[in-house]
Amino acid sequence: MGPVPELDSRADACARRLHEADAALLASHIDADGLTSAAVASTALERAGIAHEVCFKKQLDDAEIADLAAREFDTVLFTDFGSGQLDAIAAHEAAGDFEPVIADHHQPADAETEYHLNPLLSGIDGASELSGAGAAYVLARALAADDDDGEYDTDNRDLAALAVVGAVGDMQAVDGELVGANRAIVEEGAAAGVLEEGTDLALYGKQTRPLPKLLEYASEVRIPGITNDQQGAISFLQDLPVELQADGDWRRWVDLSDEEKRTVASALLQRAITRGVPANKAERLVGTTYTLTREQPGTELRDASEFSTLLNATARYERADVGLAVCLGDRGDAFDRARRLLSNHRRNLSEGLETVKQLGVEREEYVQWFDAGEEIRETIVGIVAGMALGVDGVDPDRPILAFARKNDEETKVSSRGTGRLVGRGLDLSAVMGEASRAVGGDGGGHDVAAGATIPAGEEESFVERADAIIAEQLDG
Ligand code: C5P
Ligand code: C5P
Ligand code: ZN
Repeated sequence: MGPVPELDSRADACARRLHEADAALLASHIDADGLTSAAVASTALERAGIAHEVCFKKQLDDAEIADLAAREFDTVLFTDFGSGQLDAIAAHEAAGDFEPVIADHHQPADAETEYHLNPLLSGIDGASELSGAGAAYVLARALAADDDDGEYDTDNRDLAALAVVGAVGDMQAVDGELVGANRAIVEEGAAAGVLEEGTDLALYGKQTRPLPKLLEYASEVRIPGITNDQQGAISFLQDLPVELQADGDWRRWVDLSDEEKRTVASALLQRAITRGVPANKAERLVGTTYTLTREQPGTELRDASEFSTLLNATARYERADVGLAVCLGDRGDAFDRARRLLSNHRRNLSEGLETVKQLGVEREEYVQWFDAGEEIRETIVGIVAGMALGVDGVDPDRPILAFARKNDEETKVSSRGTGRLVGRGLDLSAVMGEASRAVGGDGGGHDVAAGATIPAGEEESFVERADAIIAEQLDG
């Protein structure tokens, strides 16, 4: 039995089909979850002795699917996308172009296919309970179980670490913690000795950032006098009974002893509360962390959250090959390259957020939006939109739409909501799908985060449509 019993029979069917493939083409999405999905699936195929090639796509549309068909593999395995484009894929299946096998977690389009593994088909939430990499992991476990000829003797549980990086990269943690089917994967990873779940400071950069920068740049919870205040962060630390430097360099969080960590964490919490941060917000400074125990301490790869950002820094800049190589174990050239890409990605995110602050956000009745034009890359505008929900002047409780220019003809739209809004009926996947098709585009995704491509010039009518659909969802 696999880690998610509800998915067993679909996973087994997919695994059996893959064992019959002559050669499979594995196609995946260009983000952290897509990369880890591909790494998990490719490793499992490799171990099972199934010949395959890997390719990445920014998104799947009719033209991209036709491209895949033209490569003449008898089987195409889609990971972290495919369900939303099931209608187009099924048409190729019917034409005998290839046999599709899908391991995805996006909202499925209205069509049927035989080998389709998706949490949403089994009552499991695809935005918070299982990621694309999680679906690929379930498939990997089934592939191992289905290895009749005993060619290899692994159960693939070591791949749980990558599956968790994918889930964290897709922001699936609810209040900082993985839940549902994701939990089962965490437990398998812990049992296999590749993962450790712990409670720690919930700030980004514990492995790699110098202590003052860790605090200064922390945007998760804003602490007056520390956040975005280099001198403030340094003097806060200097008041504590903790050695701040070693050999002339700032120490990092990983360099502290447990005792020192406790000292800093409790001082930080106290400071937050005395400076007026509400207790329920201050509590978010501490949370669940996922450590990849086989990775070197003090590297991005040791922490699931830093690992996922490193991967986004490759794939969203046309270097999915680099991220995949790191996932598959390259700790030399590819890792160096990924780190250089990461500093570029970080700069782009912070400049992107500045752009949003300068542009400001337009408010409609239900939705708010900004148009970044060419200022923000279309591949990261969704990440920036999500970050913008925490910024001054942006309503944190209103769905946000973000436009970025794709090319002369097309505009990319990203949308982000909150768990609370989803609880009230928001489904951005439906909003993006319906509003984009109404103006001659296409889109989809998850209830809490979705995207679309529309013809350039249709932005205004798109906003109008989206506002009306959201009104219906929240008030109708
Ligand atoms: O295509 P994919 O599923 O991998 O993309 C997920 C996207 O949705 C990520 O960019 C992630 O930031 C966003 N997301 C989010 N909040 C959630 C779930 C997903 O912002 N609760
Ligand atoms: O690109 P962005 O990060 O905004 O995507 C958010 C979610 O919407 C992702 O899960 C992505 O796969 C999905 N999406 C989609 N169709 C599009 C664009 C995005 O299903 N045309
Ligand atoms: Zn995903």
